[in-house]
Amino acid sequence: MTAPHTHTGDVIDTDDDVVLRVEGLTKDFLVRRRGLRREAQHLHAVAGVSFEVHAGQTLSLVGESGCGKSTTARAVLRLVEPTAGRIEFRVHDEESGRASMVDIVQAGAAELRRVRRNAQIVFQDPVASLNPRMTVESIVAEPLVAYRVGTRKERAARVRELLEQVGLKASHARRHPRSFSGGQRQRIGIARALALRPSLIILDEPVSALDVSVQAQVLNLLDELQQDLGLSYLFIAHDLAVVRHVSTDVAVMYLGKIVEKAERSELFDAPLHPYTHSLMSAVPIPDPAIEGYRKRIILESDIPSAVNPPTGCHFRTRCPIAEVPGPCSELEPELVEHAPGHWAACHFPQPHGWLSQTPVSFEPPADEAPSSP
Ligand SMILES: Nc1ncnc2c1ncn2[C@@H]1O[C@H](COP(=O)(O)OP(=O)(O)O)[C@@H](O)[C@H]1O
Ligand code: SF4
Ligand SMILES: [Mg+2]
Repeated sequence: MTAPHTHTGDVIDTDDDVVLRVEGLTKDFLVRRRGLRREAQHLHAVAGVSFEVHAGQTLSLVGESGCGKSTTARAVLRLVEPTAGRIEFRVHDEESGRASMVDIVQAGAAELRRVRRNAQIVFQDPVASLNPRMTVESIVAEPLVAYRVGTRKERAARVRELLEQVGLKASHARRHPRSFSGGQRQRIGIARALALRPSLIILDEPVSALDVSVQAQVLNLLDELQQDLGLSYLFIAHDLAVVRHVSTDVAVMYLGKIVEKAERSELFDAPLHPYTHSLMSAVPIPDPAIEGYRKRIILESDIPSAVNPPTGCHFRTRCPIAEVPGPCSELEPELVEHAPGHWAACHFPQPHGWLSQTPVSFEPPADEAPSSP
């Protein structure tokens, strides 16, 4: 069953493999300052991000808490209204077989409904926000009911099929989510996201709350589903270690902006931005010989406020090589393509291995360091 093809947004024929194209996405929240003068201020949660997700591939957005990852995810589906930007999503017209890009920002209600059928979102604990009295069956079937797919009996059969697809048992359908472990609850959330056979799934920190061994199981499941169903993922994490195994491309976010973007192995083998280097210094390396030599940047100071970000480079208050006063405080660095497909926004991009040669502002090597700063 297809939603009626009425729309107010632009529909553009497409023959490339881009499933989601985001250009200059911006989201400001109006917040009130504490204290006597409670005037409203703009919090720049997402400040002009651009990226593409290709068919059957995974783009990961990675960065510390508060950098705007979830707001980006929600704005893409207009669960929060973007302040500015363009968001194009690929849809197939079942009658003509044509693929076209729909502008989500301009889409009318019917078009948005069609987009949301094809692009699903999974949260950190997708079951937590639901009524605890609902059974797994009613949770997983909810999107089918909302889109009036199938009869009650057909929906029940589809739920059982979905549960098995995510490594649960068909008999789990009658149980309540409370009786499941964190990993199983995440599988329930994934089954629900798959119900309408979407082309894109946005995964907002899907394994962040799970133990490492369970994380690996859920990541493997996501990988298998991607292979089997040709899914595209926008994968969100605060941890580069998680991203390393699941991504085709990685975009690093800091204070509402993408500061570095590259194909996965390029980013891990040749990071350029000091912030990416510092995130990588927090990823444990299994080889103790390498780990012993490595130095860690301590991202000691707090992330600056997104209400009043620093002038120039937003990372300059935490960057160990910032030239202040100088270019880092005076000129905001733009994303520049340093190698094919490898973009970084820094006046002084650093080569691979830079961390192990930089003596200032860093912790001594792990074997000499006291346990904490
Ligand atoms: N509804 C909201 N109202 C005001 N500020 C918000 C709201 N949602 C998020 N923010 C702020 O926007 C910034 C980005 O938040 P978020 O997108 O949740 O980051 P992340 O997912 O990377 O942790 C943070 O400063 C956060 O406090
Ligand atoms: S522009 Fe300057 S402050 Fe910003 S990351 Fe590069 S060196 Fe550091
Ligand atoms: Mg978040």
